[in-house]
Amino acid sequence: MKGTYYVTTPIYYPSGKLHIGHTYTTVAADTIARYRRLQGYDVFFLTGTDEHGQKIERKAREEGKKPQAYVDEIVFWIKDLWRYYNISYDRFIRTTEEEHKKGVQEIFRRLEEKGDIYRDKYSGWYCVPCETFWMERQLEDKTCPDCQRPVEWMEEESYFFRLSSYSDRLLEYIENNPGFIQPDTRRNEMVNFIRQGLDDLCISRTSINWGVPLPGTEDHVAYVWIDALSNYLTGINFPEGKKFKKYWPADLHLVGKEIMRFHTIIWPIMLLALDLPLPRQVFGHGWLILEQEKMSKSRGNVVDPFVLGEEFGVDAIRYYLLREVVFGSDGNYSLPALIRRINYDLANDLGNLLHRTVTMIEKYFKGKIPRPGSEEGPDKELKSEARNALQEIESNLDHLYFQNSLEALWKFIRRSNKYIDETQPWILAREESQRPRLGTVLYNLAGALRVIALCLRPFMPDTPHAIWKQLGLKKDLSKLPWQEAYRWEGLTSGVKVKKGQPLFPRLDLEEYEDWGIKEVKQEKVKKVEKENRVRERPEKEEKLLKMDRFKELDLLVARIEKAEPVEGSDNLLCLQLSLGREQRQAVAGLAQEYKPEELTGRHVAFLANLEPATIFGVRSEGMVLAAGEKGRMKIVEIPGVEPGSPIS
Ligand code: ME8
Ligand code: MG
Repeated sequence: MKGTYYVTTPIYYPSGKLHIGHTYTTVAADTIARYRRLQGYDVFFLTGTDEHGQKIERKAREEGKKPQAYVDEIVFWIKDLWRYYNISYDRFIRTTEEEHKKGVQEIFRRLEEKGDIYRDKYSGWYCVPCETFWMERQLEDKTCPDCQRPVEWMEEESYFFRLSSYSDRLLEYIENNPGFIQPDTRRNEMVNFIRQGLDDLCISRTSINWGVPLPGTEDHVAYVWIDALSNYLTGINFPEGKKFKKYWPADLHLVGKEIMRFHTIIWPIMLLALDLPLPRQVFGHGWLILEQEKMSKSRGNVVDPFVLGEEFGVDAIRYYLLREVVFGSDGNYSLPALIRRINYDLANDLGNLLHRTVTMIEKYFKGKIPRPGSEEGPDKELKSEARNALQEIESNLDHLYFQNSLEALWKFIRRSNKYIDETQPWILAREESQRPRLGTVLYNLAGALRVIALCLRPFMPDTPHAIWKQLGLKKDLSKLPWQEAYRWEGLTSGVKVKKGQPLFPRLDLEEYEDWGIKEVKQEKVKKVEKENRVRERPEKEEKLLKMDRFKELDLLVARIEKAEPVEGSDNLLCLQLSLGREQRQAVAGLAQEYKPEELTGRHVAFLANLEPATIFGVRSEGMVLAAGEKGRMKIVEIPGVEPGSPIS
């Protein structure tokens, strides 16, 4: 074992379905996790969802759902997505888990004990979609400097975290650890930002309920970013867990550039205040831009990763994401570019190499990988190019230069194709005396493909297995260490190749002209998602989702304050109910079984989240539950329980 390696993605907001931008970060993290595992590290790969905050609370309300039921549904969709994209995470953390909430409370307690938290009045501007506080001077025209949407004025009693008193220590740390903030350009941005002076951070909210309650406060919940950042600790069972002791500090937090400030200022200062070591690296990658704007859930110009995967194959999408754009910089997402990558790199360069090699081994050696003879002509160069490629792949992956590392591998793939042209096996095949040479050439080609399959594993989880199978290799590819790619002679002669389907079909760009990036067909999306779910979703999650439908019902205890007949009906009573904080009026078909005065004072089960209706001219805002047949019905009573208590 080479030691531990702890890598994370941001935990995404389940405020809507994720898109190809989120997939980008997650695929990158997965590639690194797979690569480190192959190298022999003990890897822990954490991803998850950031489920609290005002934005989620509002979204849930808009859809008439309880926040928990609302997020559950999206979170299961996200888990389906990551399964579909072969994301090899070790843990999926949800900030609504009990253990996480306890961890956040513990962090708050420790910061308070340290004297780094104080109470004060907050008044200022808040951007709900970004869940960010802003200073007057940072605003342009009352809009958020990050997303340009309107900010909201907020005034409340709050808890503050003394960020300001740590800025010197943070600057010093950044200076002494140049690898901490990457790429370098982002480090400079952050350093400039800190030098302008940090303000203390408002870390609690009272105007929202959907959050982690802060211990020892009245009804304050944690500001969503404090809650969210803590996931990197609670995800490995901070403070007591074995994993925490084993894996902290994190080796790599991968994030998009827009949340670098949270990860390189607030987060390290929280850790400094907690006396914990800082992560080794925070890497802020660029944005995938679709039609000149960063893709975003709230802007709606999304690209559905399920549909893309189904249309082009998950490995092709993974390849495109890692290959097309320099990881630190912004880059355009474009369908024509994707199709070009599939045609040129995957179908032509890689697909052809495999197809030609396997076809020739079948044709000239009855399908058996021949024995190699003495080294001649370009053989030596081919092998040394393989070693060069490997070293380049490694050093680039170490710096998260995915693009360059794939470019190095493709350089070798193209070199191998050129080797065919140089050695001209079809000419060698004409003369019996050249058989040993022909055998060497085909052995080397199979050897090149073997190295390629081994190297592709971190990037594309399925394709290397398809190559392996066509080469007829028996060893379990997923168990071979990374170093195996250096062993050219690791290929055994005599195994039988087996031609299969082309790895990647060539696509006709014109056919995709009206496959509009925006107007991904909804029916198709639904079909793909459903198939994927049925195929793969664990039973446990299916069950939970069914339970969620129950959770969507807002069932509460209500106290009947008053009941009167509804005019014009001999069946209906109009009830005035108390739900604790709130009063409701509801119409109930109980006049046959109860006299109005019999009902007052009773505590009953009440369904509170129904669309209001008007019955016999009377407004009804919910339903009292009853059991039994008409004429002999009894209300469902819950005596002794406070009005407003939830029924679960
Ligand atoms: O910010 N290009 O969650 P979020 C590249 N919950 N990456 C993109 C992208 C794009 N167009 N769109 C999204 C949050 N991403 C917080 C994080 S972490 C403690 C809390 C990726 O759902 C990128 O990694 O808005 C970005 O940082 C993240 O998704 C934002 O996801
Ligand atoms: Mg965001």
